[in-house]
Amino acid sequence: MRILGIESSCDETAAAVVEDGERVLSSVVASQMATHGKYGGVVPELASREHLRAIVLVVREALESAGTTLDDLAAIAATVGPGLVGSLLVGLTYAKSLSFARGVPLIAVNHIEGHIHAVVMEAKRDGSPVQLPAMALVASGGHTHLFEVREGFRYRLLGRTRDDAAGEAFDKVAKLLGYGYPGGPIIDRLAPHGDPKAVRFTFARMKGNALDFSFSGLKTAVLRWVEARNMEAEIAARRALLRENPVPAVEEWLAVTPRATRDLLASFQHAVIHELLTRAVAAAESIGARALIISGGVACNSGLRAAAQGMRLAYPVYFPSPGLSTDNAAMIAAAAFPKLARGEFAALDVKAQPNLALA
Ligand code: KG4
Ligand code: ZN
Repeated sequence: MRILGIESSCDETAAAVVEDGERVLSSVVASQMATHGKYGGVVPELASREHLRAIVLVVREALESAGTTLDDLAAIAATVGPGLVGSLLVGLTYAKSLSFARGVPLIAVNHIEGHIHAVVMEAKRDGSPVQLPAMALVASGGHTHLFEVREGFRYRLLGRTRDDAAGEAFDKVAKLLGYGYPGGPIIDRLAPHGDPKAVRFTFARMKGNALDFSFSGLKTAVLRWVEARNMEAEIAARRALLRENPVPAVEEWLAVTPRATRDLLASFQHAVIHELLTRAVAAAESIGARALIISGGVACNSGLRAAAQGMRLAYPVYFPSPGLSTDNAAMIAAAAFPKLARGEFAALDVKAQPNLALA
């Protein structure tokens, strides 16, 4: 049973073919990093235009490298939300046209469910399937959510960010300090060169749900730290480096990152990891979880992976391989597999839903 997955919710145009919900036959991702990098974030209008340019080629390449034709497919799965509406529409409309033209059923997938299935798929393939109920922390540039995953892939939301997403905090702090976009990978590489205990961040106590996150205070604390220092020259040096080379090596970044800034980055990352893991573990314990899933772009973070693996919990912690942590279409095809089994198909008039909730 082969499913073609199509993902275009944000700034990656992706297509993949997955067999039986576990074997990734192909996974093609066309990144728009070069387009958005210089703006320090995703520009929605440019994103839709880039998706339009890439979609046909990306899908063709995914089919070809999987040795599959449209007629071999059991279904075509596309992300319907959440995401940028103009971006979602490109992938979804293309999926609908292929489905209509070839008479292949269409399956609508929630992007966040895709991130969870990236992990479920790999664990199944590796012979250590995720035991349910599981707690899933999905942390990316657009979302930071805690979901209970129950039998039959039913979800219950236990906590979410009240303001910025975790990845967004990485991106904003990086932008503020003159590092490019996306900020997560850069901070991840620089953090080991600083002291994570050098700068203490305090978090305001939140009223209401103790499992909710808030990252905007942390971003403001970094801003205050920057304002209290004379950093114009070093920030300008980093911007100049970026103009010369859009993807500087870590040594080049280190050459324009003084000790105090390295310490700030390490401390910031340490604070984000602490927030994420404290709540994820509390949420897992509250439901008697048999596994903890950590997925989404922020799951690439090596400090987060090391801290999670070092916790010695009573249940296993699962991360997707780095290529399946950030946006991709294999996870969309994988999430569609149980829906195919249940005959949960989408009508051709299904709408893109920018604010689609999972539970
Ligand atoms: O899942 P994703 O590709 O797209 C969204 O659905 O948002 O996640 C992208 C986000 C960006 O905010 C990026 O800075 C963050 O994930 N990210 C990281 C790392 N790699 C990507 N954050 C921390 N450490 C990383 N290594
Ligand atoms: Zn994502």
